[in-house]
Amino acid sequence: MFEQIERVPGDAILGLIEAFKKDTNPQKVDLGVGVYRDAQGNTPVMRAVKEAEALLLNNETTKTYIGSHGAPAYGDVVLPMVFGQGSPVLEAGRASATQSPGGTGALRLAADFIATQLPGKDVWVSDPTWPNHLGIFPAAGLTLHKYPYVDADNRLDFDGMLGALKQIPEGDVVLLHACCHNPTGFDLSQDQWKQVLEVLKERKLLPLVDFAYQGFGEGLDEDAFAPRLLAENLDEVIITSSCSKNFGIYCERTGCLIMVARNAEQMENVRSQVAIVARENYSNPPAHGGAIVSEILHSDELTAIWREELTEMRDRINTLRRDFVEALKPYGLDEKYAHVAEQRGMFSYTGLTPEQVDRLRDEFSIYMVRSGRANVAGFSHENLPYLAKAIAAVND
Ligand SMILES: Cc1ncc(COP(=O)(O)O)c(C=O)c1O
Repeated sequence: MFEQIERVPGDAILGLIEAFKKDTNPQKVDLGVGVYRDAQGNTPVMRAVKEAEALLLNNETTKTYIGSHGAPAYGDVVLPMVFGQGSPVLEAGRASATQSPGGTGALRLAADFIATQLPGKDVWVSDPTWPNHLGIFPAAGLTLHKYPYVDADNRLDFDGMLGALKQIPEGDVVLLHACCHNPTGFDLSQDQWKQVLEVLKERKLLPLVDFAYQGFGEGLDEDAFAPRLLAENLDEVIITSSCSKNFGIYCERTGCLIMVARNAEQMENVRSQVAIVARENYSNPPAHGGAIVSEILHSDELTAIWREELTEMRDRINTLRRDFVEALKPYGLDEKYAHVAEQRGMFSYTGLTPEQVDRLRDEFSIYMVRSGRANVAGFSHENLPYLAKAIAAVND
């Protein structure tokens, strides 16, 4: 039977990685990858994580299953991280966390929950969005639609977004990026989030907040503005949280699905259904990443180290954004690319066209996806002058 199976082309990013590896130009620059890089181009294990792992190695007494909802100790620390200490949502017992294999696993749980428990509800995602969103929801049998997010000049199109949200049929699900929008880097202001909240209320829409970069934008609490605002002002919210980026534990597959219900009783009903969805997918989530996170967040000392390391990553990205624009000044291109300094998170819609991206690769060995999305963590103080010169050349 397998003779009928057609081969599909590999991920465009993987092709880019291969081409980058083969390139012998010593000045080559990789802006395509999806992970944080430090000034040396590495994605190191955070010190807080190493210390937590050492403790786990010594203290772990069993490798037994941790249950479909994952380790309670993980949920106990992630919920206050997302909602804030003393949050009214937590005080009212309205939120529940189900540990999942990364933010991706949480998204699939959300998709299966919607498909089985909210039949007939479609899902709306921003255009553009993280490409995996486009696969996960249809894979669960859901119908996907897009709302505009950027205009023809590749800038945030908030009016277009809000106008489109107002047309969405009542009860449908709207996926929103809490912060550090991937791929564009354009985030909503607090005032814009308040306007979105009003439309969600008015249209009785269910927000699904993808929270993959808490702490990478402005700060742990600042980045949580939208999930907190929505959960405190709406009866029902779904949040998918990931610890891949902010703890640098990408391969440990650590995240959770957070369900917020009108009251504690409805939350328990929802929670019981989420357990079934998790069981039918993979039974139990992997334990190690959640154990690292709870070890860190249960210790004041490790939390302080981790916060410092996270701040360092965030500051590095935001400084590089500003320095990128500065490096373009001598070429008179600082205004054209000023938006790069205002965006947040690891990714930037630079505004470079597919043709310019091709030229950067072919003539300068600078690699990024053809949408013009660059990983800002691939910038460095060494390569910025070279990057600026190359961008000036393709702008001629
Ligand atoms: C917007 C968005 N959501 C979710 C994820 C999933 O993260 P994880 O690696 O935890 O599955 C990512 C990862 O790149 C992302 O960019």
